[in-house]
Amino acid sequence: MQSLLNVLLLFTTYLNLVAAWGSLGHRTTTALALLYIPQDHPAELLLQTLLHGQDPTTAALFPDRIRYIPSFAYTAPWHYIDALDNPPHQCGINITRDCLPEGCVVSAIANHTDRVASPSLPLWQRGQSLRFMLHFFGDVHQPLHTENLSRGGNDIDITFDGAKHNLHSVWDTLIPKKIVEIAGEKKLLNSNQWDLKNETEAAYAWAEFLYARYRGSTIAEEVYSVCTHDAAECSLRWASEANKWVCKYVFEGGLEELQNKDLGGEYFEGAVPIIEEMVLKGGRRLARWLMMIAWDLKHELAETKTDEMIVQEL
Ligand SMILES: *[C@@H]1O[C@H](CO)[C@@H](O)[C@H](O)[C@H]1NC(C)=O
Ligand SMILES: *[C@@H]1O[C@H](CO)[C@@H](O)[C@H](O)[C@H]1NC(C)=O
Ligand SMILES: *[C@@H]1O[C@H](CO)[C@@H](O)[C@H](O)[C@H]1NC(C)=O
Ligand SMILES: *[C@@H]1O[C@H](CO)[C@@H](O)[C@H](O)[C@H]1NC(C)=O
Repeated sequence: MQSLLNVLLLFTTYLNLVAAWGSLGHRTTTALALLYIPQDHPAELLLQTLLHGQDPTTAALFPDRIRYIPSFAYTAPWHYIDALDNPPHQCGINITRDCLPEGCVVSAIANHTDRVASPSLPLWQRGQSLRFMLHFFGDVHQPLHTENLSRGGNDIDITFDGAKHNLHSVWDTLIPKKIVEIAGEKKLLNSNQWDLKNETEAAYAWAEFLYARYRGSTIAEEVYSVCTHDAAECSLRWASEANKWVCKYVFEGGLEELQNKDLGGEYFEGAVPIIEEMVLKGGRRLARWLMMIAWDLKHELAETKTDEMIVQEL
């Protein structure tokens, strides 16, 4: 109990330090998954039970909120895989070489998938693992979360719309935010009380927009049928897909070019379809994944009573 309270106190302290595949990207990936899960599918019950009613798009941010707390420092390497490749000339992940002994995003997706699906674990631990899963489905689709060079671009200083930033945060945060801002201004998003400061609403609006735009498209359909058999193998495939963009777009023109221009212009324009596709795929795959796990657990889920959950959680 004491340690739980400490964690809660630390939560509020560390909230403002968060910097990772921006929270907008994470929330939108999860919001998309919710759109792709059919109504009354056991996956809805899985989310409700393990997240204890918390909004899943907020639950997806949990791993970023704890990673700077010393007692959770061991979770930090799970957010990425540092491919020791050589962009823009040669990209590629070698799992033996690139996944650290402490773990990486690929092994973490496998680990937490197993844990969510383990009836022998206490529900609160499975809930925590579900939060990790929601989060890492976002990270594994961000190209710079699959690259070692300059710490995934964190050490590369660039300019974006006249302000100084680093390349990693351009991909984590600035591009998604700008996409949504522009779509908001053009009233492309179906949102009555549009306000970018309310990120939850922004994420749901962007998710609905992407869902509608890609409905019936080959991307959405192909992804649906792809890879569900082995968590480690599937997540490696997804990480490798994201990593290809590191050579094909992120560093395509070389470092000097990145640093000699403002990335808020042409570079941003070229990145839009890539980010959209990766967020869409993350959400689509997450939905499929949750449905698969929940289907296997449907009898257990039907029998779990809310008051049992509360007792176990305390
Ligand atoms: C992957 O890395 C391991 C360990 O460094 C190495 O032994 C292996 O040859 C590499 N595999 C490929 C296909 O390069
Ligand atoms: C799996 O996750 C649990 C819970 O976070 C953690 O304690 C464990 O070290 C992880 N195992 C691996 C192999 O990453
Ligand atoms: C990986 O990145 C770190 C930090 O930028 C760097 O010191 C190291 O040399 C890189 N390793 C390789 C093999 O590129
Ligand atoms: C965001 O907006 C929604 C809808 O207007 C509202 O229900 C929610 O409470 C808001 N969240 C925050 C954190 O302000």
